Amino acid sequence: MPMDTTITAEPPLPLRAWRALRTRGAGYAWHKALRRTSGRWPSWKRRLIYADPRRYWTLRGGADYFREQEGQVARTLRAEWIAGRLAAYRPTSVLEVGCGYGKLLFALRERIEAPLAGLDFSPTQLGCARGFLDGVDGVDLFLGRGDRLPFADGSFDMVVTSAVILHNPPEVADRIRREVVRVARRFAAHNEEMNLSYNRYGYDTAAWYRAEGRRIAEVGPIPVDADAQTSQFCVVRLDG
Ligand SMILES: C[S@@+](CC[C@H](N)C(=O)[O-])C[C@H]1O[C@@H](n2cnc3c(N)ncnc32)[C@H](O)[C@@H]1O
Repeated sequence: MPMDTTITAEPPLPLRAWRALRTRGAGYAWHKALRRTSGRWPSWKRRLIYADPRRYWTLRGGADYFREQEGQVARTLRAEWIAGRLAAYRPTSVLEVGCGYGKLLFALRERIEAPLAGLDFSPTQLGCARGFLDGVDGVDLFLGRGDRLPFADGSFDMVVTSAVILHNPPEVADRIRREVVRVARRFAAHNEEMNLSYNRYGYDTAAWYRAEGRRIAEVGPIPVDADAQTSQFCVVRLDG
């Protein structure tokens, strides 16, 4: 049953807290409280609530997260900018690893007709994606891990990640990039910021590809991004 992704006005904080407790349980409410506090101790925060990224994203995902993100114009501008750049390469199929609730897939669908697929390890994010993309044609969704993609070599013309690898520790981040390269035929594309926080490791993805001897088609900050100094968008050619 797809999650309801209709946007309504936010109720006051105590009501939101009560609803969170009632609908998603004490674990969710505790997690949310920790996320909003202990900002001065990022290493503790990482240990307490980010030790298991999949658990974090399962608790983080859902109607509240969807509302928060959709309430920020900057997020829409960024997704549209990225989708525009990806569409310029005319991919014949696209897989988004870590598709979240489907914002980038939605923006891509408006620009290209090729088959689209999204994969995420968070059932709550994927539940939202099913609601958000309900009625959008040609998008397949999969529950799975980015570091162990359930697809054969070269299954997609382009594989993209946006704000995903940066949420994973170095050894997992490395496996995700190798999986992206394995299942992509012509292009790997990434928006992976380089800043650090309790739930972000921050990577120079273009440097990783250069070290692998891959050809970078484009790299640079995302001009519409408020974090333009630390944002990095890159497209890598894998076909020679
Ligand atoms: C910040 S959200 C970005 C969502 C989407 N890419 C976008 O730009 O709107 C990060 C998403 O990546 C997913 N994710 C992070 N690490 C992952 C991994 N190793 N495998 C699969 N999904 C992952 C999380 O569950 C979450 O939905």
